[in-house]
Amino acid sequence: MTHTAHFKVWRGDTDGGDLRDYEVEVNDGEVVLDIIHRLQATQAADLAVRWNCKAGKCGSCSAEVNGRPRLMCMTRMSVFAPDETVTVTPLRAFPVIRDLVTDVSFNYDKARQVPAFVPPKGVPAGEYRMQQVDVERSQEFRKCIECFLCQDTCHVVRDHEENKAAFAGPRFLMRIAELDMHPLDAAADQGLVRAASAQEDHGLGYCNITKCCSEVCPEHIKITDNALIPLKERAIDRKYDPLVWLGSKIRRRQG
Ligand code: SF4
Ligand code: SF4
Ligand code: FES
Repeated sequence: MTHTAHFKVWRGDTDGGDLRDYEVEVNDGEVVLDIIHRLQATQAADLAVRWNCKAGKCGSCSAEVNGRPRLMCMTRMSVFAPDETVTVTPLRAFPVIRDLVTDVSFNYDKARQVPAFVPPKGVPAGEYRMQQVDVERSQEFRKCIECFLCQDTCHVVRDHEENKAAFAGPRFLMRIAELDMHPLDAAADQGLVRAASAQEDHGLGYCNITKCCSEVCPEHIKITDNALIPLKERAIDRKYDPLVWLGSKIRRRQG
């Protein structure tokens, strides 16, 4: 079955732009990215769009469809009524380069700010051993395809550009949580307490656990429940743990 759909697509660049109307053919089984490609092929050869795998695995076709952050290649046209207008706009939290392509370098900067895994002393590579439960815990976070839909939807930066400098965003707070849970990570031996650093250096306190990030994640990672809330709990436990408090007092006196 084929029908004609009404699309509105944002066209423009760093100087501004607007929504343009298109009538375009839709066939059974197609996804929004197919329609964007058809527009390129038939009506808008210069329409800029970023994509790669068309299989929900590269994380590059992120955009907003009817205002909701989504992967265009995983959004079936069958979820819209045939007479519904489908509006496709670039990710709102990041600066536009052109049309549906945004500059997501904010995320790469934040990634670089998270200190890497610190290997345990005296354990040769290949000899690392950990419980299966610990492997499974971090495996969930490793499913991330870096689409940055969670970063785009988080209200802390979505409407507040001024928060960007202090807030790593859900994807990178999740990375800190993953490393903090890793039983072999030896960062603490070097004086880096990851949960405390998440709070003090990466803006964990800005997160008020609304779970919007988890709702848009195409990998269905429970970012808030399994990463951010446990990380907050550990940051707070540490702050109010009397032994930790005493230890920090003693260290301060010795220093
Ligand atoms: S749970 Fe936290 S990180 Fe996720 S969208 Fe809400 S405020 Fe942002
Ligand atoms: S956590 Fe989910 S939404 Fe966020 S970047 Fe990774 S895959 Fe995308
Ligand atoms: S094109 Fe790779 S996730 Fe959509």
